Amino acid sequence: MDIRALARKIQFSSASATWATSVFACLLNASTVTAEPAPPYEQVHRILTAACGKCHMNGHHRGGIQLNTELQVERDAEVILTSIETSDMPYMDPTWNQTAQGKLVIRYLKAKLGQTDDDNSLE
Ligand code: HEC
Repeated sequence: MDIRALARKIQFSSASATWATSVFACLLNASTVTAEPAPPYEQVHRILTAACGKCHMNGHHRGGIQLNTELQVERDAEVILTSIETSDMPYMDPTWNQTAQGKLVIRYLKAKLGQTDDDNSLE
């Protein structure tokens, strides 16, 4: 390879590195201003099944709330979020909202509602 071809090659790769860096910086910026992306529903579903399932799934609908599907959870996101944040739910488990599972579900619901999650510590 002659020296000019090599120079072109180096120039090209440094240009694409710069481009990649600015795209990455832009993505980073975007994530600081918008709400965090929602955790995957599958994960939320597993947590809700364990924590709420016996009263709100598969035919159980205490308080008129069913948590079987993503659609049901999204439709009632606001009331579900409130019930968890105020320690009303899960029933008789007032510190659940401080657990990793509780925080993940709160983060999911807030993302669905377009709220930022700068305070879900409830301290
Ligand atoms: C042991 C049974 C039980 C479990 C477990 C349970 N709930 Fe409930 N839930 C109830 C009952 C009973 C009601 C109706 C009375 C009330 O609202 O306190 C209710 C009502 C609700 C309501 C209606 C709004 C409200 O606050 O009244 C929401 C939303 C709700 N539950 C969400 C959840 C979520 C989310 C979980 C899991 C994180 C959960 N529940 C776990 C029994 C349960």
